[in-house]
Amino acid sequence: MRSTYFKRFRMDADLTAARTLRPLQAGYRFVAWNEALVDIHARTKYRSFCGEIDALVFPCLGEQEGCRRLMREIRNKPGFLPAATWLIVRNDVFGELEWCGTIQGVIDRFGVGSIQNIGIVPGQRGLGLGTSLIERALAGFRGHGLRRATLEVTADNSRAVRLYQRLGFRKAKTVYKVVDHPAAAEASRAAEPLAAEPACI
Ligand SMILES: CC(C)(COP(=O)(O)OP(=O)(O)OC[C@H]1O[C@@H](n2cnc3c(N)ncnc32)[C@H](O)[C@@H]1OP(=O)(O)O)[C@@H](O)C(=O)NCCC(=O)NCCS
Repeated sequence: MRSTYFKRFRMDADLTAARTLRPLQAGYRFVAWNEALVDIHARTKYRSFCGEIDALVFPCLGEQEGCRRLMREIRNKPGFLPAATWLIVRNDVFGELEWCGTIQGVIDRFGVGSIQNIGIVPGQRGLGLGTSLIERALAGFRGHGLRRATLEVTADNSRAVRLYQRLGFRKAKTVYKVVDHPAAAEASRAAEPLAAEPACI
């Protein structure tokens, strides 16, 4: 099977600079982490990533069971940080809960706040929810005294790259993720094989 190489940026942000936490628009609210929410995070992650480029880069993101597994892995990491792990929910027109977005944060082995996956479900994009979730996670890192935050993003995910740049993230390194997956091979323009493969999450 042919391998496909996805270009990714590692991006860093300074957490010591002043930042504002904008309130969510009316009808939406943040939900803090608790253990009972692990499957809600997984389901919201799946709905956010299914059919997106990152589901080619990390096939687990395009499968419900994969998202469940991934969410448990994140939760069990030694540096898992509940204060940087949030959901956004709203009540739909029938009064039912609609889970709109998810983010998780961990403290890595260098003491840097690492954003794992951020996802907003398709019908809720472009409303500022992604911005709000990242700001909230960064506030969680700052509250733990961290001075830097980091994340990785697929270079072709220009919407996400713009969002991170607007929030003060700067490209620090280019890495390539190798994927042996037929769908990835079809869908991707193969980039040159170069540097080390980053972790899946
Ligand atoms: C990337 C992603 C998280 C962005 O979430 P989002 O909620 O749409 O992000 P925001 O609404 O905060 O910002 C997106 C755009 O909406 C605009 N926007 C922000 N607030 C707005 C508002 N109140 N009204 C209208 N537009 C608004 C922003 O200016 C931004 O515009 P741009 O795309 O031209 O830069 C979302 O598209 C997603 O989940 N994608 C699939 C999963 C994914 O790729 N995750 C990232 C992995 S690295």
